Amino acid sequence: MRDVAAAGAPTGPRVLPRNDPRQYDDLAGEWWRPDGAFAMLHWLAEARAALVPPATRPDALLVDLGCGAGLLAPHLAGKGYRHVGVDLTRSALVQAAEHGVLVVQGDATAVPLPDGCADVVSAGELLEHVPAWPRAVAEACRLLRPGGVLVLDTLNDTALARLVAVRIAERLPTVPRGIHDPQLFVDSRTLVAECARHGVDLRLRGIRPQVGGMLAWLLRRVRASRTAGAVPTGRAPRIVPTRSTAVLYQGRGVRKG
Ligand SMILES: C[S@@+](CC[C@H](N)C(=O)[O-])C[C@H]1O[C@@H](n2cnc3c(N)ncnc32)[C@H](O)[C@@H]1O
Repeated sequence: MRDVAAAGAPTGPRVLPRNDPRQYDDLAGEWWRPDGAFAMLHWLAEARAALVPPATRPDALLVDLGCGAGLLAPHLAGKGYRHVGVDLTRSALVQAAEHGVLVVQGDATAVPLPDGCADVVSAGELLEHVPAWPRAVAEACRLLRPGGVLVLDTLNDTALARLVAVRIAERLPTVPRGIHDPQLFVDSRTLVAECARHGVDLRLRGIRPQVGGMLAWLLRRVRASRTAGAVPTGRAPRIVPTRSTAVLYQGRGVRKG
């Protein structure tokens, strides 16, 4: 029997298999709600953008693979890039365009952009959604010009990641239920080897939400749900480095000349 995204109550949300891209259409109204179902993607986008260096030339291009609704855009402000976003999901791309992203509807495993066009390629929370993720890595590396920078974050293919990111996180308001298929999680060593094969020396570090900030955020969420949906105020939890890459990790690498 296939695992599904939601219980099949007749009047409830439609039942979709895990990692079905149509979930992003059903959740389209959540992307830009800071306390919504995609809240953690906002925190991760800020942490990913911190790995992006300021552009070193006019017209520098950043290609954002699996850009979703363009949550990276505000964190790139002032860095000097043209921000091109590639995604399968049209409802997300419409919102990305509203936030200044130049959008391309397409598959990260066959990107309709030329070799070496990008100064930076970002693949945030994408690879764990792509069954043929090594193909998406090959595309990311192909798009980079020599000296260009790859930044990414994803979930590791470990029992701990399956426990934390699926069994626990899906019971909290941090991760939509059914959004991940744990069978697609990305082995960190294989990822480094794939990048090396395509000329990118990828360095990894584990990341996690800062515990105090996360607990305060969860508390605000609970209080808000008890007061008929008042918007919680307060700083979003920060994403901080952690010693282990066993659950969530970031990667940064430079394309060889
Ligand atoms: C978890 S969201 C991350 C979105 C964005 N990177 C962020 O961090 O806010 C995953 C995104 O990847 C997109 N996606 C999944 N598979 C894809 C593929 N093969 N090619 C392009 N986009 C894909 C989905 O449509 C969704 O927008």
